Amino acid sequence: MSNLKSDFRIAILPGDGVGEEVVETSLKVLDVLEAKTDFRFDRVMIPGGGAYYEKHGKEWPDGSLEKVKDADAVILGAVGHDGPDGEAVRREDGELAGYELVVGLRQKLDLYANYRPVRLFGGVPHKIHGELRPVWHDDKVNMVIIRENTEDAYVSGASRLDRAGVTELVVSPIIITRKGAERVIRKAFETAMTRDGSPSDGKKRVTCVDKSNIIQAHRLFRSVFKEVAAEYPEVATDFAYVDAFCQWLVRNPEFYDVVVAPNFSGDIVTDLAAVLQGGLGIAAGGNIGDHYAMFEPIHGSAPKHAGLDKVNPIATVLSIKMMLDWLGDQHQVPALNKVAQLLEDAVEEVVRKEDGRTYDLGGSAKCSEVGAMVAEVFEQKLG
Ligand code: IPM
Ligand code: MG
Repeated sequence: MSNLKSDFRIAILPGDGVGEEVVETSLKVLDVLEAKTDFRFDRVMIPGGGAYYEKHGKEWPDGSLEKVKDADAVILGAVGHDGPDGEAVRREDGELAGYELVVGLRQKLDLYANYRPVRLFGGVPHKIHGELRPVWHDDKVNMVIIRENTEDAYVSGASRLDRAGVTELVVSPIIITRKGAERVIRKAFETAMTRDGSPSDGKKRVTCVDKSNIIQAHRLFRSVFKEVAAEYPEVATDFAYVDAFCQWLVRNPEFYDVVVAPNFSGDIVTDLAAVLQGGLGIAAGGNIGDHYAMFEPIHGSAPKHAGLDKVNPIATVLSIKMMLDWLGDQHQVPALNKVAQLLEDAVEEVVRKEDGRTYDLGGSAKCSEVGAMVAEVFEQKLG
């Protein structure tokens, strides 16, 4: 391993609310990795978010962006903090305080592809009808939704009309560019080439999910999809409007392998898809660009649960798993891809057990207990 990179610098942004506890708990897996292997993860902690803004009038300390850019990868907890009036703290421009750490970093680091794997581990209770029903069909739900991450409705630049202090009109743009569409769609096809295909028929498939029947900009997304698809004859294509996709996703999740969508459609369908894998407590994400990447659980800061050691750390642990995989690919260190797989195996083993589940999965284990169990099983797997 001597000439392969083994020392990594990780910028860690715990953020607000439960972000701090899920990050702290999940980082134990990096401690285990350091104890068992030659990999080293130098952690650069960066405070920030809504609570920081409330206190300091800025979202994070000066120089934070440079620290993030200096790191090999970034881990983000969650942002969003309620002020004394019970409303989320906002910046002067009206954006959520903490926006810079999420949407700002996606834009500034050009993290154009947001990978959100949706996999239901066997035995994890599936919360549909408000009831928790353990599901034992392994890998019937195993897709990755790749959301474009820099444009669509997320481009700032609304035009507004304020008269005598009253906001009378706001026009928010929906922007799709050829470049933005092409690069994320290409990633979707490249990803399909590395996967085992759809659980239902084993076919490699990329589904394009948009609202191109109505939104003109989405027509560009779909036409670029068709152009890129022509370069990948081994991969089947499939098309769905985002509204119809929501019902197909619930009715027939095993059909889907890779799904690609413009930003706003992707935002919505990934929360829905999270239910198919046991909920937001399990749903991980990776914001990936060509040079930088940031990994974060999909869930928010959940202020009402903060500090109670209650929420599920698995979404963050699986985000760290994605980070290890990305670092392995980026620096051509296959040993990192191997340990990433072992970490996912450890998670799978823990959530199968009743005492490895937090409240959202019908269990009563604490955040820290689940984190400790994952770390222990991971350690055994590392041998
Ligand atoms: C997500 C979140 C964010 C988004 C918010 C917090 C800005 O919902 O990561 O899915 O809309 O992208
Ligand atoms: Mg969202």
